[in-house]
Amino acid sequence: MNASPFPLEPEPAELEAQTRAVADFVLAHVASLGEQPSFDLDGVEALQASFREPLPETARLLPGLLERLGPAIAKTYNTAGPGYLAYIPGGGVYASALADFIATATNRYMGVTAAAPVLAQIEETSIAWLCTLMGMPAGSRGILTSGGSLSNFSALVTAREERLGEDFQDASIYLSEETHHCVAKAARLAGFPRASVCRLPTDARFRLVPEALEAAIREDRTLGRRPFLVVVNVGTTNTGAVDPLPEVVRIAHEHGLWVHADAAYGGFFRLAPGGEALLRGLEDCDSITLDPHKGLFLPYGLGALLVRDGAALVRAHRGSASYVQDVTAEGSLGFADLSPELSRDFRGLRVWLPLMLHGLAAFREQLGEKLDLARWAYERLRDDPRFEMLDEPQLSVVAFRLRGTEEDVERLGPELLRRVNARRRVFLSSTRIGGRYALRLCVLSFRTHADRVHDAVVALKEEANALVG
Ligand SMILES: Cc1ncc(COP(=O)(O)O)c(C=O)c1O
Repeated sequence: MNASPFPLEPEPAELEAQTRAVADFVLAHVASLGEQPSFDLDGVEALQASFREPLPETARLLPGLLERLGPAIAKTYNTAGPGYLAYIPGGGVYASALADFIATATNRYMGVTAAAPVLAQIEETSIAWLCTLMGMPAGSRGILTSGGSLSNFSALVTAREERLGEDFQDASIYLSEETHHCVAKAARLAGFPRASVCRLPTDARFRLVPEALEAAIREDRTLGRRPFLVVVNVGTTNTGAVDPLPEVVRIAHEHGLWVHADAAYGGFFRLAPGGEALLRGLEDCDSITLDPHKGLFLPYGLGALLVRDGAALVRAHRGSASYVQDVTAEGSLGFADLSPELSRDFRGLRVWLPLMLHGLAAFREQLGEKLDLARWAYERLRDDPRFEMLDEPQLSVVAFRLRGTEEDVERLGPELLRRVNARRRVFLSSTRIGGRYALRLCVLSFRTHADRVHDAVVALKEEANALVG
C-alpha cells in the first residue's frame, strides 16, 4: 500500500518495489525475445476490446497492470526479436532503455541549453559524433528527431529557406522513383505544391540516373522553374539501393542545388568495414537524414538530421519570444533553435549511453555482419531456380520474387509470404517493384545472426517447393 499522503509521490519503498517489478517484467521479456514467435496476433481483437475501458477514478495496483500489459506486448510483430526481417528492423539496444529511464525519471528540461548545460553538451557531443561518422566537416551541426520522416521534413525546410526565400511555388525538388514516400509528404507539409516534386527514373539496380537529373534541371530552367533540391537515396526501402552519390552531388552542385541524403536506412553502414567506400560521396552532401532507430539499433523514436552548414539549420528553425529571455542569451543556441520542437525529451542520452557502454567497435562489427548475412541469403536464393532475384544486395536488403507467370507472381507470392511467416521463426514483408509483387528480407537487427537468416532461407525454399515444386 502507498502510505504517502500525496498519492503522486509514493514513499521510497513503494517506488523501489514498483521499479523492481518493472525491471523484472522487462528483463524476463528481453531474455525470452529469441524464443518468442516472430509475430502473434491470435485473438488480438478481444484483447484490444478489453482495453477500451473507462478511465478509473481510483488507483489500480501495478502488478495487475503489468499482468495486463504482458499479453498486450505479446500480441504484436516481434520487432525486437532476431526473426524480424521485415520493413527496416533495428532491434532496440537495451542500453537506450536504461538511458530513457534515467532521462525521464530525472526529467530535466532540454529545450534550452541554460536549463541543463552539461546534459545539452552530452547531446551535442552525440550529434557531433554522428557528424564525424558521416564524414561531415567542422561547422556542421545536427538535431536528434523522432525519426527519419521528421528529419527529412526539417531538411526540406532548411534547404527551402536557404535557396528559395519565402516565394517557392515555382520550385523543383528531384527524387527518384524509389525515394521513400515521407519525402513527398515532407514537401507537401513544407508548403510545396504537388507539382514541385519531380520523380526521376532509376537504372536496372534502382539507382537514380544522374543524366536524367541533369536533363530535368535544364528542362525545368527553360520552363522558368527553380530547381533547388535533389534528395539522394542512401539505401532505398525496397531494395537498399544507393544512388550514385559522387555523380549526383557533382551535377547538383554545378547547378547550385542543395543535396539532401535520405540515409535513414543506409547511412550507418558507413561504419562497417569498407563502408566509407560503399557510401562514397555521402560526406559531400549538404544534409543527411539518419535513423539511429534503424542502423544504430536503438529503440524506435530516434532520428537525426545533420547539416553541413550548421548555421543554415539555425536560420531555418530559430524563433524568439520575450518569455524565454532569461534562458536564451544572445548568441547561445539550444535544441529548440534547430528543430520545430521546444519542450522535448533528453534524446542524446539514448545515443550517448549505448555508444559509451558498448564502444563503437561493437556497432561496426554488427553492421559488417548484417552486410555479410544479406549476401549469404542472396546467394542461397539466387542459386535456387524458383527465385528471381531483383538485385544483388547493395546493403542488407534482399529483394526477390517467385519465378513464373504474372498470375503466379501475384497469387503465389503472397501465399509464400503467408506460409513462411506462419512458421513464426522469421517475419518478412512484401512490396511492389516495377509494379510487380516482390518479397524482401532486410537484415538489420543486432539480434539477427546466421542461424536465423539460415532459417529464413530454409523456410523460403521449403515453402516454395510446396507451392511450385
Ligand atoms: C529510406 C527511408 N527513409 C525514411 C524513412 C522514414 O523514417 P521513420 O520511419 O523513422 O520516420 C524510412 C523508414 O523506413 C526509410 O526506410
